[in-house]
Amino acid sequence: MHKALSVSYLYRRFFALTLILCSAASASFADESQALGGLWEIARGGQLYDEWYRVLGTSPPRYTHPAYPSEGRQEGSTTWRCKECHGWDYRGHEGAYGQGFHATGIKGIRDKARSDPRQILNIIMDETHQYTFEMIPLEEMKKLATFVSLGQIDTKLYIDHETRRSYGDAKRGESPYQTLCAVCHDVDGKRALTTREEGMDGPEYMGTLAQNNPWEFLHKVRFGQPGIPMISLITLPAEDIVDILTYSQTLPAE
Ligand code: HEC
Ligand code: HEC
Repeated sequence: MHKALSVSYLYRRFFALTLILCSAASASFADESQALGGLWEIARGGQLYDEWYRVLGTSPPRYTHPAYPSEGRQEGSTTWRCKECHGWDYRGHEGAYGQGFHATGIKGIRDKARSDPRQILNIIMDETHQYTFEMIPLEEMKKLATFVSLGQIDTKLYIDHETRRSYGDAKRGESPYQTLCAVCHDVDGKRALTTREEGMDGPEYMGTLAQNNPWEFLHKVRFGQPGIPMISLITLPAEDIVDILTYSQTLPAE
């Protein structure tokens, strides 16, 4: 019953998307996703990808995810976050999580961009993943699948994988940073952030995160921070957000 509902619902939505894609090859990301019922749903899906249980205000399983490799260095609840296996750059072992503290050897989700959300929903609930509607209710699961299909971006277009420098225009990013972000994060980005990626040294200022983990920065600024009053800039083109990232990389990191 649940499943049938979801399939017809997503089918209708995906059909609408295909129509848009076919009729206007140059349709912007915003146009395409709007047809699917609102960018905010994709933003919500992006936050679920980050840390679904914090978004939903529920408790995740305490045991390590069965698909998490035994040689991996994380354990327990955090291994249930999508980003823990597939990365902030969505490229899994081919991206920033190819080595180090978060390495798993698992592939990314890039190949599923623009895929039918029904298929993605089935993957999330398959034998490997073992997510259930008890953990992530159907309505939220659809937003997650829509994020995988339409919300993810090719970070290689915006960030140099080796140097972590972003390709935007720092000057263009200054005004949006100072008007949209400084009210909460301070003009120099030095209001300390309490959450931090494990294994990072030094204080987590805006400059620190922008320089060390530009992929996480992009994800959080596009979709928002789970469970916390922080805005999502999903209605802006990715290029504008990359300008803010590039400006933030010039802010003090210590
Ligand atoms: C504990 C690790 C782990 C977690 C957490 C995890 N996945 Fe996966 N995921 C995998 C593995 C393993 C595969 C299979 C990769 C393969 O086929 O080689 C996979 C495959 C996928 C694929 C298909 C990729 C492709 O191109 O075939 C998608 C989409 C996906 N996962 C989405 C998600 C989403 C969304 C979440 C969060 C709800 C999630 N995953 C959480 C381990 C994980
Ligand atoms: C209404 C207040 C508010 C606004 C506006 C805001 N943020 Fe945030 N942001 C927060 C809070 C609160 C957190 C969570 C901080 C923490 O976990 O310590 C956060 C977290 C973040 C994080 C993740 C940090 C981490 O370590 O996980 C990034 C990156 C970020 N903000 C960037 C920005 C940028 C760039 C802007 C402007 C486009 C912005 N924020 C606007 C309140 C805000």
